[in-house]
Amino acid sequence: MDQTNPTAKIVSRHAVSRASIPDTLAILRDVILPTLGKGPLVRRRKMVGYSERHGLNDKAVRRMQKLRRKYGPGPLILPIPFRRQAVVLSAEDATAILDGSPEPFAAATLEKRAALSHFEPDVALASQGEDRDKRRRLNVDTLEPQCPVHPMASGFAAIVAEEMEAISNKALASGTLDWDTFFSGWYRMVRRIVLGREARDDAELTDLLEKLRYRANYAFLRPKDHSGRDALLKRLSRYVEHGDPESLAGRMARACTDPEQKPHHQLPQYLFAFDPGAMASFRALALLSAHPHVERDVRAELAQAGQSSTPPLDLTRACYLESLRLWPTTPAILRETTQPVQWAEGQIDRGTHILIYAPFFHRDDETFEQAHVFAPELWINRVSRPDLALVPFSHGPVICPAAQFVPMIASFALRELLNRMVIALHDASRLRPDRLPGTLDNYTLRFSVAGRTDPVEPSGKNGMPDVS
Ligand code: HEM
Repeated sequence: MDQTNPTAKIVSRHAVSRASIPDTLAILRDVILPTLGKGPLVRRRKMVGYSERHGLNDKAVRRMQKLRRKYGPGPLILPIPFRRQAVVLSAEDATAILDGSPEPFAAATLEKRAALSHFEPDVALASQGEDRDKRRRLNVDTLEPQCPVHPMASGFAAIVAEEMEAISNKALASGTLDWDTFFSGWYRMVRRIVLGREARDDAELTDLLEKLRYRANYAFLRPKDHSGRDALLKRLSRYVEHGDPESLAGRMARACTDPEQKPHHQLPQYLFAFDPGAMASFRALALLSAHPHVERDVRAELAQAGQSSTPPLDLTRACYLESLRLWPTTPAILRETTQPVQWAEGQIDRGTHILIYAPFFHRDDETFEQAHVFAPELWINRVSRPDLALVPFSHGPVICPAAQFVPMIASFALRELLNRMVIALHDASRLRPDRLPGTLDNYTLRFSVAGRTDPVEPSGKNGMPDVS
């Protein structure tokens, strides 16, 4: 806390309000409990399906809109015993808070630290002060969030091509692409990209991580599995020591300048955060299948990219970002104030937990015309839209350092799948183009697939550098 200026000021025109008890209970029921129910660290499949069938996300957005109409656009304090909690109701405040992180709006909130301590206690996101700065730097040096095309892109494109070919072959043999086929192949790709060639089939490692993530869903309500966590971190240390030069772990080992940066504590985040990366890719395929005119344009972009191993693929990436906008995989962006913060009217106390509920902004049809339709044009050459608080990768100094890396890898993956297969979504009625659902259960998506009659020569397999 800054002793010379104990109260920080936020640039906002809004007033802080206090919710009534019935409204607080309504927000807990409609917004917070369903979000926790789906699983913050690893999704509970049944809950995702339930949420789609019962329109839970739409209901949550309507609840937030109702609160904004009643209390105005300023932050809303919820009178919860033993806890200071606020929710954000305007894009302007959301952006100002994210711009003001990590001080006075810390990202390492109590719950986040409790949850992440199950498997990565010293990850940047759970760290504070000088440690946080060092660890953030290591992630930035590894992932290069300023570069749409990562310096190691051509090697990664080759890995993506091989693993997507394996998925396509399996799908073409059965005529169907389902989640399990896609996800198991996707994770072979992820282990190679993150840890190196030797890790390709180390499913034991990602299974162990998944077990720890299930515990982490309950944060401090479940005891830690210390031996499981130690085993995970030890195994990751070995991959860092080995430092496959063609992997992110190798790049991280080379970039590490201080043991306190703890590369092995950063890597579980890399592995697990590729799980939402898969969800968004599979949903993007469903979106393309339901919007043939966009699919045509994407295929034209891919054809134009020809043999280039690392083309920019602006439209393909925009479709991926749009999948994340429609169904954000980090619905709750959390902050905790490190000092009192003054709004235009009213103040938020130190130690207040702040919820930025991304689906509210991403689907706010009272402020944003394209809220429920597929609008990739929102994302050409950008990864966040702070003007509308469209923030699938967050925004500001804590923005996901993989905000360019993930769309790059996903666009390479979509390219390989689309270049090999014609894809049609089963049960297309789930995606009505004029009103897309609030949740899309990726686990039950299935596609009929057939080989392309005009196959495009697979790209990137030779790993030739090409960053034109
Ligand atoms: C679709 C996939 C992904 C999405 C939607 C996503 C989104 C996010 C979000 C919203 C945050 C929180 C930022 C905040 O609190 O403001 C975050 C943090 C982070 N993400 Fe991602 N992420 C994804 C994949 C990845 C991947 C694959 C990696 C690594 C290869 C990664 C690395 C990180 C790291 C290191 C942080 C912590 C940043 C910090 O504390 O400064 N993410 N991500």
